[in-house]
Amino acid sequence: MHIATIGAWILATGLVSAKTCYNATVPVPVSARNGVFDNLSTPKNNMEATMFSIAATRQGGNFTEDALTGYATVSGHYNISAQYCMPNSSASSNSSQPVLQILTHGIGFDKTYWDLPYNNFNYSYVDYALSRGYHTLSYDRLGLGNSSHGDPKSEIQAFLEVEVLAQITRSLRNASLSGIRTRPSKIVHVGHSFGSYLTFALSATYPDLSDGLVLTGFSTNSSFTPQFVAGSNFQQARLDPSIRSRPGLNYSLGYLVTSNMGNVEYTLFDPPHYDPKILAFAEKIKQPVTVGELLTIAGLPQESKFSGPVLVMAGSNDMASCGGNCTATGGASESIPAAAKEAFPDAKTFSAYIQPNTGHGLNMHYNATGGYKQIADFLGNQGLSKNMKRLR
Ligand SMILES: *[C@@H]1O[C@H](CO)[C@@H](O)[C@H](O)[C@H]1NC(C)=O
Ligand SMILES: *[C@@H]1O[C@H](CO)[C@@H](O)[C@H](O)[C@H]1NC(C)=O
Ligand SMILES: *[C@@H]1O[C@H](CO)[C@@H](O)[C@H](O)[C@H]1NC(C)=O
Ligand SMILES: *[C@@H]1O[C@H](CO)[C@@H](O)[C@H](O)[C@H]1NC(C)=O
Ligand SMILES: *[C@@H]1O[C@H](CO)[C@@H](O)[C@H](O)[C@H]1NC(C)=O
Ligand SMILES: *[C@@H]1O[C@H](CO)[C@@H](O)[C@H](O)[C@H]1NC(C)=O
Ligand SMILES: *[C@@H]1O[C@H](CO)[C@@H](O)[C@H](O)[C@H]1NC(C)=O
Ligand SMILES: *[C@@H]1O[C@H](CO)[C@@H](O)[C@H](O)[C@H]1NC(C)=O
Ligand SMILES: *[C@@H]1O[C@H](CO)[C@@H](O)[C@H](O)[C@H]1NC(C)=O
Ligand SMILES: *[C@@H]1O[C@H](CO)[C@@H](O)[C@H](O)[C@H]1NC(C)=O
Ligand SMILES: *[C@@H]1O[C@H](CO)[C@@H](O)[C@H](O)[C@H]1NC(C)=O
Ligand SMILES: *[C@@H]1O[C@H](CO)[C@@H](O)[C@H](O)[C@H]1NC(C)=O
Repeated sequence: MHIATIGAWILATGLVSAKTCYNATVPVPVSARNGVFDNLSTPKNNMEATMFSIAATRQGGNFTEDALTGYATVSGHYNISAQYCMPNSSASSNSSQPVLQILTHGIGFDKTYWDLPYNNFNYSYVDYALSRGYHTLSYDRLGLGNSSHGDPKSEIQAFLEVEVLAQITRSLRNASLSGIRTRPSKIVHVGHSFGSYLTFALSATYPDLSDGLVLTGFSTNSSFTPQFVAGSNFQQARLDPSIRSRPGLNYSLGYLVTSNMGNVEYTLFDPPHYDPKILAFAEKIKQPVTVGELLTIAGLPQESKFSGPVLVMAGSNDMASCGGNCTATGGASESIPAAAKEAFPDAKTFSAYIQPNTGHGLNMHYNATGGYKQIADFLGNQGLSKNMKRLR
């Protein structure tokens, strides 16, 4: 099946760097076995949003299990808003066989996370990847931003989002994503935070779809999730001033967002290693999470038989992945992210890297590009760069 776009890919103009990007909305047919959470009602106001967090962070129980009453298949043709970027040097032909990076953002963002326009794009992950010869495909996760929204409890769950990522990958692999005529020689999946969990799950469910994984803002230690949820102080997105100031973003009750800049700072930043104005920018572009997503993180696969190379990267003071200190392991492992090696028993290479002076929002710290270089160097060393021709 050929996936047509809604309208043509639009050349995104006005960019300062040497990049050519196309925007499009792509209809993606997917189906997944989602959780049914009938023992929990969708929070209807801010007080109930906080009650959700109280229950979700309570020790000694399993919140997801309490809410879960069964499973049901959810299917749909969802519109996914995507951006495909290539260096100007390869835009003239489209005939190169690039290594493509598929970028999946985390909670609190949309695809802008990967191509931050702040300070003339000098924090842009996309710009850096392109400068190293990669092509990139970033997209708003299902349910968010300019992609289709849906029921925040029954529909927009991690399970369905993994299927979206799989479907996008398949159509890019065989050049059937309308308009994208370049057939990548290899595909690397890069995630941030929740996007890394989805990427991990993709590799566990469909190990053949990826040639390499880069999981940023990631660890397999779930001890710090309550800190992240409490620190977010989630409230209804549709009542939030920042969300309301952006026309076209219509979120139903059950889409929750960090209340204010202090919550964004607590969950994403490592003081003082960032420009205070980028914190205000993060608040300005923030996006929500659904209760369905928060309920299904725990149900994703815990182990991946992926056999390609894996890089896990977290900020030294990453709150969500490491409780604010990635090297405080009490001697159990070299770092908290390094312990993720056990979840990849078959990986060809596993490497964990701790990016210094950085919090959970890696791309928003002064030294973000230092981290980007580590990623590109790792991929290059694994034969995942544009000069490597696929042998088959
Ligand atoms: C393309 O999408 C980006 C966000 O990814 C947005 O900033 C830009 O304005 C869009 N351009 C067009 C021409 O729609
Ligand atoms: C790269 O291409 C884009 C879009 O085609 C264009 O707007 C931009 O000016 C070009 N940049 C350079 C440095 O040539
Ligand atoms: C429903 O949730 C409540 C907590 O809200 C819990 O005490 C109860 O055990 C749950 N029921 C089932 C059948 O899981
Ligand atoms: C996708 O977009 C098309 C065109 O705008 C619209 O007709 C359709 O209803 C959308 N589908 C979903 C699931 O939102
Ligand atoms: C962006 O530029 C500012 C100064 O203009 C600099 O301090 C900062 O380190 C740069 N950030 C990145 C990620 O390049
Ligand atoms: C979403 O669409 C709006 C309106 O076209 C545009 O201004 C914005 O940049 C888009 N955002 C993303 C993340 O694509
Ligand atoms: C390409 O991938 C899509 C998405 O999985 C699939 O539906 C289609 O059959 C594939 N096309 C070819 C020619 O293999
Ligand atoms: C390159 O690809 C883009 C988007 O896939 C398409 O719009 C454009 O026409 C292509 N350019 C050439 C020269 O084929
Ligand atoms: C909590 O319950 C869910 C649903 O039954 C299960 O997938 C998950 O593994 C449980 N989490 C823990 C930590 O036991
Ligand atoms: C992080 O933990 C390590 C190991 O316990 C400790 O040496 C270091 O001082 C801690 N860092 C901070 C900022 O507290
Ligand atoms: C998570 O990290 C903490 C701090 O290093 C450690 O005490 C705990 O044992 C770890 N938990 C797991 C499941 O690895
Ligand atoms: C910036 O990041 C690189 C890569 O992690 C690291 O080698 C370098 O020491 C960092 N610089 C600072 C000032 O933290």
